[in-house]
Amino acid sequence: MSFASVLVLNGPNLNLLGTREPAIYGSETLDDIAKLCGDAAERLNLSIDFCQSNAEHQLIDWLHAARTKVDGIVINPAAYTHTSVAIADALSAIEKPVIEVHISNVHRREAFRHHSYVSAAADGVIVGCGTQGYVLALERMAAILEHRAAK
Ligand code: DQA
Repeated sequence: MSFASVLVLNGPNLNLLGTREPAIYGSETLDDIAKLCGDAAERLNLSIDFCQSNAEHQLIDWLHAARTKVDGIVINPAAYTHTSVAIADALSAIEKPVIEVHISNVHRREAFRHHSYVSAAADGVIVGCGTQGYVLALERMAAILEHRAAK
Protein backbone atom coordinates (compact mmCIF):
# COMPACT_ATOMS: atom_id res chain seq x y z
CA MET A 1 0.00 0.00 0.00
CA SER A 2 1.37 3.43 -0.87
CA PHE A 3 0.77 6.17 1.69
CA ALA A 4 -0.07 9.75 0.75
CA SER A 5 2.60 12.06 2.11
CA VAL A 6 1.93 15.21 4.11
CA LEU A 7 4.34 17.90 5.24
CA VAL A 8 3.47 19.27 8.69
CA LEU A 9 5.23 22.60 8.96
CA ASN A 10 5.59 24.74 12.09
CA GLY A 11 6.74 28.35 12.21
CA PRO A 12 8.64 30.51 14.68
CA ASN A 13 8.56 30.08 18.47
CA LEU A 14 6.57 26.85 18.28
CA ASN A 15 9.75 25.07 19.40
CA LEU A 16 9.07 26.74 22.78
CA LEU A 17 5.64 25.15 23.24
CA GLY A 18 5.25 23.66 26.70
CA THR A 19 6.90 26.60 28.41
CA ARG A 20 5.74 29.43 26.12
CA GLU A 21 2.65 31.25 27.44
CA PRO A 22 1.00 28.02 28.71
CA ALA A 23 -2.23 29.87 29.54
CA ILE A 24 -2.64 30.45 25.79
CA TYR A 25 -0.90 27.45 24.20
CA GLY A 26 -1.21 24.77 26.92
CA SER A 27 1.52 22.58 28.35
CA GLU A 28 2.16 20.20 25.47
CA THR A 29 5.53 20.45 23.75
CA LEU A 30 6.24 20.36 20.03
CA ASP A 31 7.51 16.80 20.52
CA ASP A 32 4.13 15.91 22.04
CA ILE A 33 2.43 17.37 18.94
CA ALA A 34 4.80 15.45 16.66
CA LYS A 35 3.78 12.25 18.50
CA LEU A 36 0.07 13.18 18.24
CA CYS A 37 0.52 13.72 14.48
CA GLY A 38 2.52 10.50 14.10
CA ASP A 39 -0.26 8.48 15.79
CA ALA A 40 -2.96 10.19 13.68
CA ALA A 41 -0.96 9.63 10.49
CA GLU A 42 -0.63 5.93 11.24
CA ARG A 43 -4.38 5.65 11.81
CA LEU A 44 -5.11 7.60 8.59
CA ASN A 45 -2.53 5.80 6.43
CA LEU A 46 -0.55 8.98 5.82
CA SER A 47 3.19 9.34 5.82
CA ILE A 48 4.22 12.63 7.45
CA ASP A 49 7.28 14.79 7.68
CA PHE A 50 7.08 17.05 10.78
CA CYS A 51 9.32 20.15 10.77
CA GLN A 52 9.76 23.44 12.61
CA SER A 53 11.85 26.51 11.85
CA ASN A 54 12.15 30.00 13.22
CA ALA A 55 13.40 31.24 9.82
CA GLU A 56 11.03 32.40 7.09
CA HIS A 57 13.45 31.44 4.29
CA GLN A 58 13.79 27.90 5.70
CA LEU A 59 10.01 27.44 5.73
CA ILE A 60 9.85 28.71 2.13
CA ASP A 61 12.71 26.41 1.03
CA TRP A 62 10.89 23.42 2.57
CA LEU A 63 7.69 24.46 0.78
CA HIS A 64 9.56 24.67 -2.54
CA ALA A 65 11.02 21.20 -2.00
CA ALA A 66 7.53 19.94 -1.14
CA ARG A 67 6.17 20.98 -4.55
CA THR A 68 7.29 17.73 -6.11
CA LYS A 69 7.54 15.56 -3.01
CA VAL A 70 4.30 15.70 -1.01
CA ASP A 71 0.58 15.32 -1.55
CA GLY A 72 -0.53 17.95 0.95
CA ILE A 73 0.58 20.48 3.54
CA VAL A 74 -0.54 21.18 7.09
CA ILE A 75 0.97 24.43 8.31
CA ASN A 76 0.98 26.44 11.51
CA PRO A 77 2.88 29.49 10.24
CA ALA A 78 2.76 31.03 13.76
CA ALA A 79 3.56 34.77 13.67
CA TYR A 80 4.35 34.63 9.93
CA THR A 81 0.61 34.06 9.45
CA HIS A 82 0.08 37.74 10.07
CA THR A 83 3.10 39.12 8.19
CA SER A 84 4.29 36.85 5.40
CA VAL A 85 3.15 37.41 1.83
CA ALA A 86 6.18 35.27 0.90
CA ILE A 87 4.86 32.16 2.69
CA ALA A 88 1.37 32.73 1.23
CA ASP A 89 2.94 32.98 -2.26
CA ALA A 90 4.96 29.80 -1.71
CA LEU A 91 1.80 27.93 -0.66
CA SER A 92 -0.11 29.23 -3.71
CA ALA A 93 2.73 28.06 -5.97
CA ILE A 94 2.47 24.48 -4.73
CA GLU A 95 -0.97 23.56 -6.07
CA LYS A 96 -1.47 20.92 -3.36
CA PRO A 97 -4.12 20.97 -0.63
CA VAL A 98 -3.19 23.14 2.35
CA ILE A 99 -4.74 23.19 5.83
CA GLU A 100 -3.76 26.08 8.13
CA VAL A 101 -3.76 25.39 11.88
CA HIS A 102 -3.63 27.65 14.91
CA ILE A 103 -3.57 26.23 18.42
CA SER A 104 -5.12 29.34 19.97
CA ASN A 105 -8.27 31.15 18.87
CA VAL A 106 -6.51 34.03 17.13
CA HIS A 107 -9.85 35.84 16.70
CA ARG A 108 -10.20 36.22 20.48
CA ARG A 109 -6.75 37.75 20.72
CA GLU A 110 -5.07 41.00 19.63
CA ALA A 111 -6.42 42.63 16.45
CA PHE A 112 -3.12 42.06 14.57
CA ARG A 113 -3.75 38.29 14.84
CA HIS A 114 -7.16 38.52 13.15
CA HIS A 115 -5.73 38.74 9.65
CA SER A 116 -3.97 35.83 7.98
CA TYR A 117 -2.08 36.19 4.69
CA VAL A 118 -1.98 32.40 4.55
CA SER A 119 -5.73 31.70 4.71
CA ALA A 120 -6.35 32.78 1.10
CA ALA A 121 -3.91 30.07 0.01
CA ALA A 122 -5.45 27.41 2.30
CA ASP A 123 -8.24 24.95 1.55
CA GLY A 124 -9.22 24.89 5.22
CA VAL A 125 -8.38 26.67 8.46
CA ILE A 126 -8.57 25.18 11.97
CA VAL A 127 -8.38 27.70 14.79
CA GLY A 128 -8.63 27.48 18.57
CA CYS A 129 -8.93 23.70 18.90
CA GLY A 130 -5.66 23.39 20.82
CA THR A 131 -3.16 20.78 19.72
CA GLN A 132 -6.11 18.62 18.59
CA GLY A 133 -6.26 21.05 15.64
CA TYR A 134 -3.29 19.21 14.11
CA VAL A 135 -5.17 15.91 14.28
CA LEU A 136 -8.29 17.51 12.81
CA ALA A 137 -6.14 18.98 10.02
CA LEU A 138 -4.66 15.55 9.20
CA GLU A 139 -8.14 14.01 9.21
CA ARG A 140 -9.36 16.68 6.79
CA MET A 141 -6.26 16.22 4.63
CA ALA A 142 -6.82 12.45 4.48
CA ALA A 143 -10.44 13.05 3.40
CA ILE A 144 -9.37 15.51 0.67
CA LEU A 145 -6.67 13.17 -0.64
CA GLU A 146 -8.99 10.15 -0.55
CA HIS A 147 -11.62 12.09 -2.49
CA ARG A 148 -9.04 13.11 -5.12
CA ALA A 149 -7.70 9.56 -5.45
CA ALA A 150 -11.24 8.25 -6.02
CA LYS A 151 -11.85 10.65 -8.94
C1 DQA B 1 -0.36 30.64 16.59
C2 DQA B 1 -1.06 32.00 16.67
C3 DQA B 1 -0.14 33.11 16.18
O1 DQA B 1 -0.81 34.38 16.28
C4 DQA B 1 1.11 33.17 17.04
O2 DQA B 1 2.00 34.16 16.53
C5 DQA B 1 1.78 31.86 17.18
C6 DQA B 1 0.97 30.65 17.32
C7 DQA B 1 -1.22 29.52 17.20
O3 DQA B 1 -0.90 28.36 16.93
O4 DQA B 1 -2.15 29.78 17.95
O5 DQA B 1 3.00 31.78 17.28
O6 DQA B 1 -0.15 30.33 15.23
